[in-house]
Amino acid sequence: MIFASGVVLSLILASVRLVGAQTNSTGLEIEAIEAHFTQSGIVPSLLPIFDPSALMSLAYTGAGDISPGQALTQDQVSPTPSLTLTPANSSVQLGGNYTLIMADAGPVGTDESQGQTRHWLVNGVTLNGTAPLNIATKTGTAITKYAGPAPAQGSGAHRYVILLYIQPENFTAPDGLNTPDVGVSVFNLQDYVSTSGLGPVVAATYFTVENGAPSVTPSATSAVVTSTLPVVQSSSSGSISGFPSAGAAAPSGSPNAAGITVASAQNALLAAFLGFFFL
Ligand SMILES: *[C@@H]1O[C@H](CO)[C@@H](O)[C@H](O)[C@H]1NC(C)=O
Ligand SMILES: *[C@@H]1O[C@H](CO)[C@@H](O)[C@H](O)[C@H]1NC(C)=O
Ligand SMILES: *[C@@H]1O[C@H](CO)[C@@H](O)[C@H](O)[C@H]1NC(C)=O
Ligand SMILES: *[C@@H]1O[C@H](CO)[C@@H](O)[C@H](O)[C@H]1NC(C)=O
Ligand SMILES: *[C@@H]1O[C@H](CO)[C@@H](O)[C@H](O)[C@H]1NC(C)=O
Repeated sequence: MIFASGVVLSLILASVRLVGAQTNSTGLEIEAIEAHFTQSGIVPSLLPIFDPSALMSLAYTGAGDISPGQALTQDQVSPTPSLTLTPANSSVQLGGNYTLIMADAGPVGTDESQGQTRHWLVNGVTLNGTAPLNIATKTGTAITKYAGPAPAQGSGAHRYVILLYIQPENFTAPDGLNTPDVGVSVFNLQDYVSTSGLGPVVAATYFTVENGAPSVTPSATSAVVTSTLPVVQSSSSGSISGFPSAGAAAPSGSPNAAGITVASAQNALLAAFLGFFFL
């Protein structure tokens, strides 16, 4: 699984070459999360575009800091997590109100037009302190309080995506989601974003939770666009953990469901050094 990290690092190294020495570690980690979102199919199936200007860090009491795409247990994700935000660089201005959303994008290959289970929705979130800024979820209006994931047994590794959107002054919460304490239910993330007038995603991350061995095989044609991974080498094979069923079904020599082939062991070592693990 460390080998797959090399893919991410290849992308990072490629972009570092493009932008020279200006990208610092926050910039690298933002490049990494963008690569994760593409490789896991979250972009474009859940989010048409993802161009974050800050890095979101996620921590659960007990499990500690969570890396993008990390596989967690239901127990680990039951407490409300803490979130921080680090701007990409000093020209990124952060302030005002934000909306925080956690949505279940299901296993790789899920048809997102069917909607997503909403696990957390807070309007009027503010940022507090100095970088890394505290995402003060307790100060906003909790439309849906944090509800830890509990995916159905055998339904595969669900991707739980946590998103921080800019909430402009003319934001208007839609009917049904304009009062506190609405329970967990299915909604359509993109419909919510467009009807309420939310601005772009400032930062996001995700993790996976799986309950028991999968009884269904996720679609082998996930929405991953392999052509967006120009620097990926095909010298050896491997897959990103977290999508085992889909990957296992792929014939040898073709990309697995996550569309990933791996880069060199040297990059994997560098990736391990930088801490970009897929656990
Ligand atoms: C700062 O980060 C933003 C968002 O990633 C980017 O658009 C912008 O070009 C960066 N500016 C500099 C000076 O690096
Ligand atoms: C490097 O990242 C920090 C955040 O950790 C940011 O505040 C700073 O502006 C960045 N420096 C450059 C040169 O982009
Ligand atoms: C802001 O951060 C300080 C120090 O971390 C904390 O004591 C305070 O409760 C925070 N305020 C909000 C509104 O979260
Ligand atoms: C942020 O939200 C608060 C409370 O809803 C509102 O009073 C304030 O005007 C908002 N600020 C901005 C910049 O939108
Ligand atoms: C909010 O205002 C912006 C311009 O500031 C506008 O483009 C947008 O359509 C408005 N959204 C709503 C929901 O009224």
